[in-house]
Amino acid sequence: MKAVVVEHRGEKGALKEIPTPRPGAHEILVRVIAAGVNPIDWKRRDRANEAFPFVLGQDFAGLVSEAGERVTRYHQGERVFGISDFGAYAEYTVAPEDDHEQPVAKIPDSVGDADAAALPTAGLTALACIEALQIGRGSTLLVVGATGGVGGFAVQIARDRGGRVIGVARSSNRSLAESIGVDEFVAYDRENVTEAVKAAHPDGVDAVLDLVDDADAIKSMAQLLRPGGKLVSTIHSVDVDWFAERGIAAQNVAVFETLQMSHAGLRTLLELLERGRLRVVIAGERALSDAVVALDESKSGSVDGKLVITVE
Ligand SMILES: NC(=O)c1ccc[n+]([C@@H]2O[C@H](COP(=O)([O-])OP(=O)(O)OC[C@H]3O[C@@H](n4cnc5c(N)ncnc54)[C@H](OP(=O)(O)O)[C@@H]3O)[C@@H](O)[C@H]2O)c1
Repeated sequence: MKAVVVEHRGEKGALKEIPTPRPGAHEILVRVIAAGVNPIDWKRRDRANEAFPFVLGQDFAGLVSEAGERVTRYHQGERVFGISDFGAYAEYTVAPEDDHEQPVAKIPDSVGDADAAALPTAGLTALACIEALQIGRGSTLLVVGATGGVGGFAVQIARDRGGRVIGVARSSNRSLAESIGVDEFVAYDRENVTEAVKAAHPDGVDAVLDLVDDADAIKSMAQLLRPGGKLVSTIHSVDVDWFAERGIAAQNVAVFETLQMSHAGLRTLLELLERGRLRVVIAGERALSDAVVALDESKSGSVDGKLVITVE
């Protein structure tokens, strides 16, 4: 089968012919129709502990091509989506029927393949962050990076739970941010974000989801949060003790360690989609042969919504 493989550290990856994987007794073999692009896909190429070679990608949507002999939940021909350790930028992938770190679920008829492929990693991360921040009716949430993959889903999940959202993004993304439910918009390329949020919320916001700021920059969030406020970073930039000394409950969320990284988490996202409370913003679809270019686009940081790779 064709797959986009990184053979050695430092390589970007290339379309190669590799053996089609065989499903184990508890695994399904999936013919991939679409694969979602996430920053983790290009970050893996630089990770110190990565085992080479590996197939790029992890989010997939496709058809069950074969089910292992012990599999009970899925049958050949069913549409499924989820996260696979095997890799997703490929004609086939394998995933366990039931695994906390590689969740899989059936795709309802009302949900398209591209939307399903775009959902798992970013959607589950957004869900985990919104739950960690305990967003509920009347909460005020600041999302830094509101029109990216995780941010776009987080804004919508927060709104579904009755939260009020201040979204930070590039000025050209104002209408996109508003279309997904951002109540107040701050353009980081036009305004001083800290000053703008402080002026609008002098008593502080309840929560901050920061998808962008490094360990130094994220400290400026302390002055925007009310005493007892909550802060989450997805890029591990939070110094938990530093924030605790200032009365802020801050944490670094790693989605693979959360309860939301599960079949139940995927079901929660699907339920939001089916209720019309969650919309997947597809930034573009790319061919499998252009997957490495799609990763360059993601790495440039200027993708609005989710990029999806379609597999013929
Ligand atoms: N820890 C975990 O388990 C986990 C899970 C998922 C993701 N992540 C990480 O979380 C980060 C976000 O992921 P993602 O999928 O949402 O990435 P993404 O789709 O690339 O989105 C990032 C967004 O950040 C915005 N941005 C860039 N500079 C900004 C700034 N100075 N202020 C505000 N916004 C800015 C960009 O918006 P503009 O176009 O408006 O500039 C872009 O839309 C990535 O680093 C990813 O690796 C971690």
